Amino acid sequence: MNDTARPATRPQRSLFSAISRITDLFAYPLRTSHYVELVNPLWTTHLLQARVMKVWDETKDSRTITLKPGLNWRGHRAGQHVRVGIPVGGMHYTRTYTISSEPERSDGCFTITVKVVEGGRISRHIVRNLKPGDYLPIGLPQGDFYLPDAQPVKPLFITAGSGITPAMCMVRSLIAQERLPDTVHIHYAPHEFDLIFGKEIGELARAHPRYGFQPVFTRALGEEQREKRHFSEAQLNQLCPDWRERECYACGPQGLLTAIEALWDGAGLSRRLHVERFRATVAEVPADAVGGVVAFAKSGVKAEGDRATSLLRVAEDAGLNPAHGCRMGICHACDTTLLSGCVRDMRTGQVINEAGSLVQPCICAAAGDCELDL
Ligand code: FES
Repeated sequence: MNDTARPATRPQRSLFSAISRITDLFAYPLRTSHYVELVNPLWTTHLLQARVMKVWDETKDSRTITLKPGLNWRGHRAGQHVRVGIPVGGMHYTRTYTISSEPERSDGCFTITVKVVEGGRISRHIVRNLKPGDYLPIGLPQGDFYLPDAQPVKPLFITAGSGITPAMCMVRSLIAQERLPDTVHIHYAPHEFDLIFGKEIGELARAHPRYGFQPVFTRALGEEQREKRHFSEAQLNQLCPDWRERECYACGPQGLLTAIEALWDGAGLSRRLHVERFRATVAEVPADAVGGVVAFAKSGVKAEGDRATSLLRVAEDAGLNPAHGCRMGICHACDTTLLSGCVRDMRTGQVINEAGSLVQPCICAAAGDCELDL
């Protein structure tokens, strides 16, 4: 197969599926797609896969991976994310990453840019071990954090760390469409050498005077964090005096997003603020909350779950591999039934103790002993 070819067009996909319907009769009990997978995993239709074409180190702990998706892929909108399956140590994990390349890219590939999360075994595996030629199962692009079809009104991007990826995708897309408006992009990183896409951003800013990139480095070498360099209204007024007139897209750690939401809310501008989170917002753990023994009924496994660790993580640490997707309570891929006992939704603090209730293990923790249908 020509690896630079674009994914199949809609008429091509219709033709493939019409042919498959006939050949499936001869492939029973499997499907034609299972045999096609042996020839080229990108041609399968029962599973969407992508081939790693290239890896590129952005910083010492972040890497851009170029992926060539299979036939069933459909284009993304700038700012959307995709689910990626990662096999590690015989287990299958799923993580969600923002697509960092622009939809206008002409080679049929897309990129994700992954930063190692502290204590994150999957992100570490992707950044350290993934190599060209590997195949990964992927989902279709999802998410409602994307640019409007209409020309955005003077966008303001506020990002930090790997939160720069959706903003970068949007900026690249606007440039590719030759409709980049007056844009301000404030980005927080600890040091200059931690700046993801640093070289490219410098080139973009020089080539496109409308792209006003304002990096804020929160630490100097050998120095502890300085509070004054973090996001504040005074700093925003200085870096972007007309922020009230702009459409703001923000992505970064919880603390930054909370501060931005409070400021926009106070200014009565919430409708002009679009926020993308990488993690669910969790409520404070009640002082009297306790964990318990989590029994996974189908697997016959029991494990200790503390009051602040998600049941999904408890299951994975116990060697199980439950279905999951976003890991932040959005996709419902992890839904299961509470058979007995008590769990707590970590976002709201709500205690769920009715047997038969549907629970989301990715954002629920044990609240005493409990049993799940997993
Ligand atoms: S993994 Fe998406 S809701 Fe739990």
